[in-house]
Amino acid sequence: MKAAGWTIFVGLFLGAALLMAQNLGYRQDPGWKAPAKAAARKNPLAGRSDVIAGGKKLFEQHCIECHGHSGQGLGHAADLQLPVVQRQSDGTLFWKITTGNARHGMPTFSGLPELQRWQLVMFLRTLPARKASR
Ligand code: HEC
Repeated sequence: MKAAGWTIFVGLFLGAALLMAQNLGYRQDPGWKAPAKAAARKNPLAGRSDVIAGGKKLFEQHCIECHGHSGQGLGHAADLQLPVVQRQSDGTLFWKITTGNARHGMPTFSGLPELQRWQLVMFLRTLPARKASR
């Protein structure tokens, strides 16, 4: 009986740890939507694969505490590998990084130089694609 209790306890613990380690259950906030004009903005660094390493550094400095090393999302932070995130335009991702979503715990990064924000978008595009049905 005691052993069964432990098994359940350890099982629940591992399950919770797994849920914390990535955020597959992430649902976008329908109220956090880039205006059409912002979404249509072109990435001035498009095609510049040389800026990706710098984007990775910026990501490590500013983002991994919430999104994890590979953007998988810790706690309730967005899993940036999900198709629902990656399907969006560069302009949309740039706008979301710029404005943040204070209500849901995503800080604003309008203080970072614009080109660094575009550089972050370039890095986000290199994250492994999550195979999810969403
Ligand atoms: C303090 C924690 C935290 C930090 C630091 C943080 N984020 Fe976020 N981020 C979040 C949360 C939480 C969400 C989900 C917000 C929501 O539910 O609407 C999010 C959402 C996002 C989204 C939008 C995903 C979508 O649904 O389209 C992007 C893109 C993003 N973050 C990029 C970044 C980048 C790039 C950085 C670093 C410059 C960063 N975040 C730093 C917590 C954080």
